[in-house]
Amino acid sequence: MTTPWDPRSWRDHPAAQQPDWPDEAALERVLKQMSTLPPLVFAGEARALTATLGDVSAGRAFLLQAGDCAESFDSFGADSIRDKLQVILQIAVVLTYSSGVPTVKVGRIAGQFAKPRSSATERVGGVELPSFRGHLVNDIAPTEAARTPEPERLLQAYHQSSSTLNLLRAFTKGGFADLGRIHAWNQDFVASSREGQRYERLADEIDRAMRFMKACGVDTTSQPALHEVDFFTSHEALVLGYEEALTRRDSLTGDWYDCSAHMLWIGERTRQPDGAHVAFLCGVDNPIGCKLGPTATAAEVIELCERLNPERIPGRLTLIARMGAGEVERALPPLLAAVRESGHPVVWACDPMHGNTFTASGGQKTRRFDEILREIAGFFAAHEAEGTWPGGVHVELTGDDVTECLGGAEEILDSDLGARYETMCDPRLNGRQSVDLAFHVGELLRR
Ligand code: PEP
Ligand code: CO
Repeated sequence: MTTPWDPRSWRDHPAAQQPDWPDEAALERVLKQMSTLPPLVFAGEARALTATLGDVSAGRAFLLQAGDCAESFDSFGADSIRDKLQVILQIAVVLTYSSGVPTVKVGRIAGQFAKPRSSATERVGGVELPSFRGHLVNDIAPTEAARTPEPERLLQAYHQSSSTLNLLRAFTKGGFADLGRIHAWNQDFVASSREGQRYERLADEIDRAMRFMKACGVDTTSQPALHEVDFFTSHEALVLGYEEALTRRDSLTGDWYDCSAHMLWIGERTRQPDGAHVAFLCGVDNPIGCKLGPTATAAEVIELCERLNPERIPGRLTLIARMGAGEVERALPPLLAAVRESGHPVVWACDPMHGNTFTASGGQKTRRFDEILREIAGFFAAHEAEGTWPGGVHVELTGDDVTECLGGAEEILDSDLGARYETMCDPRLNGRQSVDLAFHVGELLRR
């Protein structure tokens, strides 16, 4: 007989990508304190997201998961949260209007503070330093002191997540997300562009449709669906002590939930079926995601489905393919076929970002907008060939006018990257590129 799961069970498995905390006792003190703090989300909300994702797995809805690569302790404020939400709402409106199916909105936000690294150390100016692992763990400044993991950061991440979530709840339920305000979500620097104007025309059509409904006698003011949105949070469940400390037993059902976010995912570097991340997430009842890179085999994917969703609950498991534009049409179809044959009810999402990253001539990590679109098109083509539903997209974006990804309608060039390159980790789509992407995905969905 196997021992029952508990939030500490992962500690018996090899855990990749964990920080090298210099003072274990200090870490355990912080974790103990965190385990007494209020949950950030409630079990009932996580269950509602599972049910909605169940609709996605059945082809009746589309998932939009989007936000920062890594949230920052330094650029934390109401404006950046509002601008990110705004661009996500814009994309969702474009997708819903194009496809005629609901868009499930999940942010990479309110907890996305930890980063996996390809190497534990890096050389900066001839000195070997611990790698930056996200503000949950250490600071990006290239000094030994800044790069030393600090347990107090876990508490700061918890409190920043709590304030972020509070504002998101206020924005999404308090009038900001009202469909009557769709023009106001279009920031000036977006509105002046070609894709921004295309968005304005779509918003005009929606206004006209609303006026038409009113004229027909529909009381649009009393329809919450037109004035509020459901918005969920997610992050990579990477630093397992943090996730364990925020895991609570639901008083209603007795089941365990990781209350640090509604949805948690496992990264490409930590998806070993016998590893600690799978061992941890198989025991919480939140909806979970798992990234799949181009080396994932059909047998591995089926094993992950069996471990992470043995009861085959629709919406419980989202497989996030991040193959690269050149690989997706080769690597994805066998996985789609194997999962289809197994009968596992998964959501298939496309992360067109992480398989298309390269270093620009100026040294910045970047991605080409065209390659991002090409991977999404390849993802849709693979699903069409296999008769499966292309359930969603997973993208890194910001509402700000940054220059981090190359190309797009207002062509960002290699030489422009230095102008407003602000990300702490991977390059994000800016507001214009995000709206542009929404129209491209909308067209694929309409076909
Ligand atoms: C990420 O989503 O930021 C990430 C690191 O992705 P992956 O695990 O797919 O590389
Ligand atoms: Co990233």
